[in-house]
Amino acid sequence: MSPSPSQTFKPVRKAVFPVAGLGTRLLPATKTMPKEMLTVIDRPLIQYAVDEAREAGIEQLIFVTGRGKSSLVDYFDVSFELEATMTAKGKSLEVLELSRADYGELISVRQQQPLGLGHAVWCARHVVGDEPFAVLLPDDLMAGTPGALRQMVDAYNRIGGNIVCAEEVAAEKTASYGIVTPGTSEGNLTEVLGLVEKPRPEVAPSRLGVIGRYILQPEVMDLLDAQEPGAGGEIQLTDAMAKLIGTQPFHAVKVDAVRHDCGDRAGYVLATLKLAMEREDLAPLVREALAGL
Ligand code: G1P
Repeated sequence: MSPSPSQTFKPVRKAVFPVAGLGTRLLPATKTMPKEMLTVIDRPLIQYAVDEAREAGIEQLIFVTGRGKSSLVDYFDVSFELEATMTAKGKSLEVLELSRADYGELISVRQQQPLGLGHAVWCARHVVGDEPFAVLLPDDLMAGTPGALRQMVDAYNRIGGNIVCAEEVAAEKTASYGIVTPGTSEGNLTEVLGLVEKPRPEVAPSRLGVIGRYILQPEVMDLLDAQEPGAGGEIQLTDAMAKLIGTQPFHAVKVDAVRHDCGDRAGYVLATLKLAMEREDLAPLVREALAGL
């Protein structure tokens, strides 16, 4: 599992954000608004994912969007009228700083049909090119310091190959995740011997579930070229990753961060509450209100 100390790996500079999904689990909230624009406290989900990517050293943000998703790209633009008005009124623009992409930092490609996560990632193949890349699913809000992807990039810089973020999931929940067949473990790293998408609990190889952060080698794109539908009739990233196992190093890492599944009503509410309780400006009020319930 440990490579020689002199080994260096191509840096992870690009990140793919699959944001074309319809967000049906959160209807009607997502009827006319992308689920990635739903706000936790004062930032949309996409901002949390982009902040995490930037902290991990990502230089190129690749959004895989679809119809009705242009507000995600607009969000990272300069809002000229807003900024001019704020400046004229003497208001600081600092609050907008992270919502502005640098020139050329953000590229968007279209996924014209909802054919699955693997297909969404494959739509970014020309922009990814011949480099390792990260994938972040913004509805998995990862709260951690350093951020989850930073921790994964640190692991990647030591061991290279492919790395998925993973955590133990409830036995009855395996059918909601990609599940790992685990090999040997060392610290927070586990060798991945197999991957299967959304197995029923009776056939799941473990309870180690993949959560929405990946570092992948570009060869996964060649495997996705086959466009083979898998679980749920969708082109699954898990199936392409499974084919890489044995040809390239593949590990799962448990990061020191709390995952909030904001694609789910309860997860979304809890994310808002927990993050509010960590904020100095909101915690006293929220704690008092909760104590009164
Ligand atoms: C996707 C992946 C699955 C992974 C999950 C993490 O599923 O296909 O392997 O475990 O994200 O959130 P989805 O939640 O999009 O159905």
